[in-house]
Amino acid sequence: MDPALCRSLNTMSLELLADYLNVEFTKIDQLYKELLGDQQFLDEINEQIQKVRLTYQKGIFRHSNLESVDWFAIQRIILYILVRLNRPSVCLETGVFYGGTTCFILNALRRNHFGKLISIDLPRNSDDKMSRHYLVGDSEDIPQGLDIGFIVHPAQKERWTLIRGNSLEEIPRLNEKIDLYNHDSDHSFAFIKQEMTLVWEKLNSNALIMADDLDWSNGFYSFCVEKKLYPLIITDNGKSGLKARTGIVKIDHPSRKKKDITG
Ligand SMILES: C[S@@+](CC[C@H](N)C(=O)[O-])C[C@H]1O[C@@H](n2cnc3c(N)ncnc32)[C@H](O)[C@@H]1O
Repeated sequence: MDPALCRSLNTMSLELLADYLNVEFTKIDQLYKELLGDQQFLDEINEQIQKVRLTYQKGIFRHSNLESVDWFAIQRIILYILVRLNRPSVCLETGVFYGGTTCFILNALRRNHFGKLISIDLPRNSDDKMSRHYLVGDSEDIPQGLDIGFIVHPAQKERWTLIRGNSLEEIPRLNEKIDLYNHDSDHSFAFIKQEMTLVWEKLNSNALIMADDLDWSNGFYSFCVEKKLYPLIITDNGKSGLKARTGIVKIDHPSRKKKDITG
């Protein structure tokens, strides 16, 4: 990663985000800088990385010490900013694996002194993984001796509920209204459509939706067309080329009411 390039690509994406949310860019940039300057969070991440590296050295765990959160995909940085900006009461994420998105959401909730995160992931190395999207490979197998969310530092867990199960079975059991939903579980077309349809019933009228790995199927786009949503699409910050990777939807976005924006 080239840190300067990454920072400037992140900033360009955050300008798009500000425009989409109709929020002053300076407000978004302030939150990005707050995150970049959060030494406690970075120290906690590095502490976890050092523990995990004894058994696992893939992805972000290749590095023994991160000098900045810019090493993470822009999706995580945007999640932090959205949680700080909107102060959601209930966040839901599907797909935890090592806990990249989880720790950014939890860190923002900790700063807010408000709200909680419900995360759903399959039980450790369960058989359901056998039918996953072909791009997954073995990249999401929890290494021996570690548990789901292994980058999440104990000091970040106060506002966290982890549900071990299939999101399609667990979402209907949730009793709360959701303010922010992050999809990062199974990215196959049919699965995304089913998961998003289940969550849709639980969303507050001004909720935010985020989805990762958009390039794995057209499920997210199809859902947006079906519900006439107006999404913002963000490219990755230079680590996987400039693929369209992350989708964000503000479900009460004013453009939603305009005719033929989507569909
Ligand atoms: C891409 S990883 C999540 C990465 C994570 N958000 C992060 O930032 O580190 C996808 C995860 O989705 C989980 N998953 C796949 N199918 C699922 C399902 N039906 N229900 C819940 N979780 C599922 C997998 O077990 C895997 O841990």
